[in-house]
Formats: sequence, C-alpha cells, structure tokens
Amino acid sequence: MQRLVIDGEKKLSGELYVHGAKNSALPLLAACVLARGETVLHNCPRLSDVYAACRILTCLGCKCVRDGDSVSVNTDSLSHFNVPDELMREMRSSIVFLGAILGRIGRCRLSFPGGCELGPRPIDMHISALRQMGAMIKEDHGILDCDVGKGLHGAKIVLSFPSVGATENIILAAVTAKGSTVIHNAAREPEITDLSRFLNSCGARISGYGENSIYIEGVEKLSGCDYEVMPDRIVLATYLSAAAVTGSELTVLNSRVSDVEAILPVFEQMGCIVCPYSDRIYISAKRSLKAVKTIRTMPFPGFPTDAQAVVMAALTKAKGTSIVIENIFSNRFRHVDELLRMGADIKAEGKVAVVDGVNFLSGAKVRATDLRGGAALVVAGLGAQGTTEVSDIKYIDRGYESIENAFSSVGASIKRV
Ligand code: EPU
Repeated sequence: MQRLVIDGEKKLSGELYVHGAKNSALPLLAACVLARGETVLHNCPRLSDVYAACRILTCLGCKCVRDGDSVSVNTDSLSHFNVPDELMREMRSSIVFLGAILGRIGRCRLSFPGGCELGPRPIDMHISALRQMGAMIKEDHGILDCDVGKGLHGAKIVLSFPSVGATENIILAAVTAKGSTVIHNAAREPEITDLSRFLNSCGARISGYGENSIYIEGVEKLSGCDYEVMPDRIVLATYLSAAAVTGSELTVLNSRVSDVEAILPVFEQMGCIVCPYSDRIYISAKRSLKAVKTIRTMPFPGFPTDAQAVVMAALTKAKGTSIVIENIFSNRFRHVDELLRMGADIKAEGKVAVVDGVNFLSGAKVRATDLRGGAALVVAGLGAQGTTEVSDIKYIDRGYESIENAFSSVGASIKRV
C-alpha cells in the first residue's frame, strides 16, 4: 500500500499550477453522453475519479481517449444504459450519469450510490426531480431501473436544498427534454456554471446558472465541442493552506479569484498577505498565524465544505481559538482524530469543531479517512516537526494530481513510497 512520507517544516517558495477541477470534470464527462460525435475536454485532471468516469463511458459504448491533458469522448457507438455496480461503488458521484443517460437513451440501470466516508449521501432530490420530468424509476435491492417512456418533459422543480449533484442531474436531463424546465433553489457552485457553459457550447439553452433559479429550454440534440475544464478551487485552497501552515510565500497559478471569495478572507484573518490577480493568487504567511472567529461551511457562495479540512489543518497552528461549523455533511470531521495524533488541540462534537492553536505539530503515522481529510493531513505534515507518514492515500489520488510532485516542486520534502 502506498504512503506519503513528509519531512515537515520546510519553507515553500515559487509557483504552483492548479489543475482542472475534479468536481467539474466528472459532470462534464457525464454530459458528453448527451453530445453527438466527439467532445474534447482540455485541462482534464489525471485523477482516479476521472479514470473511473472514463471507464463508465467505455462501458456505455463510447470511445474515450486521453492525450496529455485532454480527454476526447466519441459517443457515436453509445448503445448501453447499464452502469456496473463496481463502478458505481468506486465513485459515488457517478449518479450524475443518470440524467445524461436518460436524456440520450431513455433508459438507465445503475446501483444506488449509498453512504460514504462523509455520512449518508441520499439521492432523494435527484429521483424526485427526474420523476417530475416523466422518468419512471423503480428502486429494488439498491438497483435503480429508470425508463422515460415517451420521453422526458420540462418541469418546475423546487429543491429543498441547493444540492450540487441534484442540480447537475436535472440540468443534464432537461437540456434535451421537451419544453422548459426551471430549477428553483438551484446550487450556485462554479462547477454548475462550468457544466451549463459546456452544455451551451454543445447547443443547449440554459440561462440563470450561477443564480438561484436556472432556466432550461429543451433542444432536440447536442453536438460535441472543445471545452476547457475550470481550475480546481479546492486544490487552490489546499495550496494556500500549505503556504499558511509552513509560513511560506507561494504564487498559485491558474486561480480564479471569483471562485474563492469566501476562502481568501479566512487567510487574511489568519494574518497572511493575500494578493489576488486576474489569473493567479500570491500568498505570504511570514507572520505567525492567528485564529479565525468562526468558519461555517455553506453552499456557494459560502465557505465550501470541501475546503474545511485543509483550512482546519492550517488553523491547528494559529494562535487562539478558531471555531469550525460543518453544515453540509454529517460526518466530515474524521480528519480530526488524525490531526490529534500530530499534536493538534481540537474538540469536535456534532457539527462543531473547536481548534485551539498549538505552537508546533509533530510528525506521526496517520491515515487518510477521505479525500479532503487526507489532503489536510498532508498540509499538517508539511507544517509539522519531524516525519509524517500518511497512509490510505488512494483517497487523496481521487482529487489531487500527484500531490507529492506539486509540493516537492516548491521545496517540500515529500515522497510516495
Ligand atoms: N442531499 C440530500 N439528498 C439529495 C442530495 C443531497 O439529502 O438528493 C444532501 C447530502 O447528503 C448533503 C447535502 O445535501 O448533506 C449536499 O449534497 P450535494 O448534493 O450538494 O453534494 P454532492 O453533489 O453529493 C458535491 C461534490 C462534493 C461536495 C458537495 C458540496 C462532486 C462530485 N462532489 O457532492 O465534493 O462536497 O457537492 O459542495 O461534485 C469532494 O470533492 O471531496 C466532495 C465530496
């Protein structure tokens, strides 16, 4: 089993490049199902979840080929509508294929994605919305059997919570449905905007994305296009956290400031100097870190749940008491026990974690419990005295393209063994 071995407290300096966003690339790959002919996604990250999405496309009969940073998907020979159980289990977000397959083929059979490291991940909003659009969905022993009969039709859908995945599934089902669809209380995350822009480039008619209500006029068919995946805002937050915890200076390239407006003030409150430019962010963390009052994870444009763990890793060394409230997932503090092994002082109960800053962290053997929690341990390891060994790094590989090469390139001592 692979581990990351980190010799901590090395100063980082130089430039890091943010790769394409996992949480955009996955729905974009699902959306390719809807586009006739060939689509090429550029800046498509090399991540295990992206490879899993490509395997799903291949199972459906598509041709999926990687060439450098680009992935081309040709759907001319698409003919299947089953997503095998092992691929559904490998990547829970594969549920986003449901709307796309229904839109293109009219039938889909896949297994329920089930719970995961972050707590239960129900898909009730996805199912209810697709039913409102005319899909007949049978659930039997964890298998979803879906059929659209004479086709999907537009509907007015009001989400009880702005779920990212449900919003994506509805958009995917609606773009080629008959008539208009409106989604109220839609998710506003930048990845929703990326998906909508991509689909519009393929010929869809979506407006209002990035706002609370999204409007979709169904079109007859979509055609493939070339599209560049947006930069990963959580990778960006991870790099900023690493600079903060090591007291370093970094310039993070391929950064979109508008995607991280809720994150940057947190680093400023910690005492870092943050200079956003049009396509890069400079951070200097030369002064010792200060605690922040309260971080509450919220749907976009609030502070993202995916950045909670990495920022908490930096806060473990911030003087004073910081409060972190996790409002999106019920079980997203599993990194806390591992940070405690490194000498952090954190009390977590329910959705609240109280972080009392310590003078130093000590290297330890720790285990990644989930993707972002694993990245938090890497961040903590970079800022810890001595050697940290992070195991179960398969989680980290789901969302970070060779995290050890990125940090080594700016002076960290980190290797995969
Ligand atoms: N929820 C329901 N019912 C539903 C759908 C969601 O109760 O039908 C609940 C969830 O259980 C959760 C909350 O709503 O408590 C938010 O879930 P959401 O649907 O917004 O999340 P998601 O689509 O499953 C995506 C990202 C996550 C990210 C969340 C929130 C992808 C592939 N995943 O998940 O990313 O945390 O949005 O922003 O886009 C990660 O990258 O590490 C990650 C977990």
